[in-house]
Amino acid sequence: MIKEYDAVIVGAGGAGLYAALEASKKAKIAVLSKLYPVRSHTGAAQGGIGAALGNVEEDKPEWHAFDTVKGGDYLTDQDAALVLAEEAVRAVYDLEHRGLPFSRTPEGKIDQRRFGGHTRNFGEAAVRRSCYAADRTGHMILQTLYQQCIKNEVSFYNEVQLLDVLLEGKRCTGVIAYDLATGEIITFKAKAVLFANGGVGRMFRVTSNAYANTGDGQALLARRGVPLEDMEFFQFHPTGIREMGILITEGVRGEGGILRNSTGERFMERYSPTMLDLAPRDIVSRAIVTEIRAGHGIKGDGQIDDYVFLDASHLGREVIESKLPEIADFVRTYLDIDPVESPIPVHPTAHYAMGGIPTDLEGCVIADEKGTKIDGLYAAGECACVSVHGANRLGTNSLVDLIVFGRRAGIHMGRFVQESNPHPVSPDSAASIEAQIKALKKRKNGPAPEMIRKRMQNSMMAKVGIYRNGRDMAETVEELRELRQMYREVGCPDLSQAFNTAVLEVFDLGHRLENPYITAVWALNREESRGAHAREDFPERDDTNWLKHTLAWLEGEDIRFGYKPVDISRWEPKPRKY
Ligand code: FUM
Repeated sequence: MIKEYDAVIVGAGGAGLYAALEASKKAKIAVLSKLYPVRSHTGAAQGGIGAALGNVEEDKPEWHAFDTVKGGDYLTDQDAALVLAEEAVRAVYDLEHRGLPFSRTPEGKIDQRRFGGHTRNFGEAAVRRSCYAADRTGHMILQTLYQQCIKNEVSFYNEVQLLDVLLEGKRCTGVIAYDLATGEIITFKAKAVLFANGGVGRMFRVTSNAYANTGDGQALLARRGVPLEDMEFFQFHPTGIREMGILITEGVRGEGGILRNSTGERFMERYSPTMLDLAPRDIVSRAIVTEIRAGHGIKGDGQIDDYVFLDASHLGREVIESKLPEIADFVRTYLDIDPVESPIPVHPTAHYAMGGIPTDLEGCVIADEKGTKIDGLYAAGECACVSVHGANRLGTNSLVDLIVFGRRAGIHMGRFVQESNPHPVSPDSAASIEAQIKALKKRKNGPAPEMIRKRMQNSMMAKVGIYRNGRDMAETVEELRELRQMYREVGCPDLSQAFNTAVLEVFDLGHRLENPYITAVWALNREESRGAHAREDFPERDDTNWLKHTLAWLEGEDIRFGYKPVDISRWEPKPRKY
């Protein structure tokens, strides 16, 4: 089946929906989602969207940009950080005007709370910058934008899985997708395609990421010769529910929650005397693991790793029920604990990829070190790398990124499709996918996809996680090579046509295996520590050799390396102190 649109957007999270909203003013737009759109992973972002509104205390976009650069351990492109911080203010008011029910101050302004690494006057003290809707901010963003897209007559294709991207030379002409309900292969012809398919957290065993976060866009573009940028930088959020990984928002600490070890000590006093529990996430996650390694964690039971406590009980019922109702519900449901009475058992959880598909500030995908663009190919949100998060993203900047750069990409793409003509699409691509599915269904005795997935996730968690070293990472690289070989033999025992989730699992697994491979290979290659990339064998940041972005081209089993300079035009890189 062939469908034709001016532009196709893959992913219905914040970036995809915002881009759709803008582009649909000028063009006929389809959004493809693996899920029902309002179940996209943006909905899991709890604690807020950062913007220097200055509603509760003085704040400035320039301070926000500086925090973003310093939080990213100076790998953040400073021109991009300034765009992010300046446009964040407009973005938040825009969301408010579109109907987003933000929490309010007593005078009726959008309320703001503290978050990790957000400071006043270039690091002087913590500032209230996160605009929030209780602890359901991402959920509210999705509802608001989805309604607006329906109003703009955007076409949605739900429960549709991306299987290939059509690139003819330096031009993108569409995508191929699998309709789960019917098992049909659909070729979407378009003058432009925007990838907004989210992150890759499912490559780790314990993660806050949804099942759908398998990095499909990143993997498919990598197979088609597009490089991925800064993939070695992966963030662990300090407070996931122990072992399950479900996010407990940083907003808990923003409201005054405290991390404690097994002796009840507020250990962050030793690791970050100024910002305490609200230091950036890389620092807090390392502090937790260091405490646990030193024997100061609360003992797990063999099935559950040791953990620490996040204590919110002193905040009182009123604050917890009104400002943190979602996490209170999670904790009661999953742990049978009332956070009003007892501390929450937490452990760092794999949360966010700083790297991804390289783009410029308008969301155009960049194919090499020289800045060459691929016509009609865009990316925004977590799957993209506009280099705004550097080596470690600050909390709340993900939602800002989606809205600011989703909007910019949508505007550019809307203009691009108005000015360009359709391009012919070769029918061979869909035929080749159909042949692959047929072959899969014939192969009966291959290795179980679940076994490959679990080995990949365990190895990444144990050896390419919060603390890294060369020996362990080399082992993971080897293991991933072996798993990639095994994957070629995987079959699909389910022959049904409708709702064949087994076929999808096989394709998903193939996508998942590309991303951790690039992450592990590059993490092994970067011989320094910076932001979330903490190497025990290279503990110092090395600006002389490594103040640069990395590019990785997947070439069969090999990875070709490349580099790009970091924009440091505004603030000179300095050692980070919090
Ligand atoms: O902690 C949180 O609410 C997560 C926010 C984020 O990742 O930006």
